Amino acid sequence: MRLGITGATGFVGRALMKEAAKAGHQVVAFTRRPVDSLAGANAVRNFSVPAAADFSKLDALVHLAGEPVAGLWTKRKKALIGQSRVNSTRDIVTALGKLPDSPPVLVCASGTGFYGNRGDEILDEDADGGFGFLAEVCREWESAARKAEKGGIRVVSCRLGMVLGPHGGALASLKKLFSMGLGGRLGKGTQWMPWIQVEDAARLLLRATSTAPPWRGPVNGVSPEAVQNIEFTRALGDLMHRPTLLPVPAWLLKSLPGGMQEMLLFSQRVDPLVARLGGFEWRYPNLVDALAASLGVTSPKS
Ligand SMILES: NC(=O)c1ccc[n+]([C@@H]2O[C@H](COP(=O)([O-])OP(=O)(O)OC[C@H]3O[C@@H](n4cnc5c(N)ncnc54)[C@H](OP(=O)(O)O)[C@@H]3O)[C@@H](O)[C@H]2O)c1
Repeated sequence: MRLGITGATGFVGRALMKEAAKAGHQVVAFTRRPVDSLAGANAVRNFSVPAAADFSKLDALVHLAGEPVAGLWTKRKKALIGQSRVNSTRDIVTALGKLPDSPPVLVCASGTGFYGNRGDEILDEDADGGFGFLAEVCREWESAARKAEKGGIRVVSCRLGMVLGPHGGALASLKKLFSMGLGGRLGKGTQWMPWIQVEDAARLLLRATSTAPPWRGPVNGVSPEAVQNIEFTRALGDLMHRPTLLPVPAWLLKSLPGGMQEMLLFSQRVDPLVARLGGFEWRYPNLVDALAASLGVTSPKS
């Protein structure tokens, strides 16, 4: 398969390039960077103007590019988070619609932020969307991707949870805080935190491109073992041999700019029903194993 990946230079994209190569696929990386070659990619194409990018001669396209959600949510940052996803997806769909040989499948990233703040409710792909900034962005993002269906393209929106891995993502920042002894539960710590190890995220995205049998519509990209923040905090602290006694009060998180507390306090108990029923096998279904692999330490469970 000739697989196009936008955001190939990113945290998930790099893992996806690796998994694709292992499976014997050819990778075409799309990037805004002015480079002719990229480690792990067989070819590089320009993505500075998504509407004008060349998506021809691909068997599948995975769209991962977008302004990082991490960082202070200023007005400008929030606008970039939304526009870089929704507008680029619209542009891609328009460009695919003009191609005589458009790829038969578009797999677009989305996030479990789609579900908003839902307490202990179990959320499979049929659950309604929730409220909040990320829920709104995900809704528009998925809706923009779905428009490709009109052109006969199969569309999958992969609602990723927090992706855990050794070289980037949220764990990179968490590691710094925990190593300074500043790791602690967030608020009451009862909020559910959907997560997935980066290799599994890449394998799931790759599975979504395949027709054996084809997936379409939303697919929850999370591990089947949901955990609450307090359990996540304890597991990371134990593996790093750091204390996690000091909780971070909810009022402090609520004072962060732009409503970014939703990333830390919203509760999403997400069930990867489509992947489970589809027989997907997680390499890291268990949080302690996933964290240990990401930190490069031996899991006490092994
Ligand atoms: N990581 C997670 O925990 C997580 C969780 C839920 C959902 N997701 C979604 O999964 C996708 C991939 O995540 P990731 O962690 O791999 O992302 P990432 O590393 O932050 O970035 C992916 C790529 O997006 C491109 N990019 C960055 N800013 C951009 C902008 N303003 N406009 C257009 N392109 C921009 C960059 O590629 P170039 O510079 O090469 O163009 C970058 O390498 C994202 O859409 C993210 O929202 C991730």
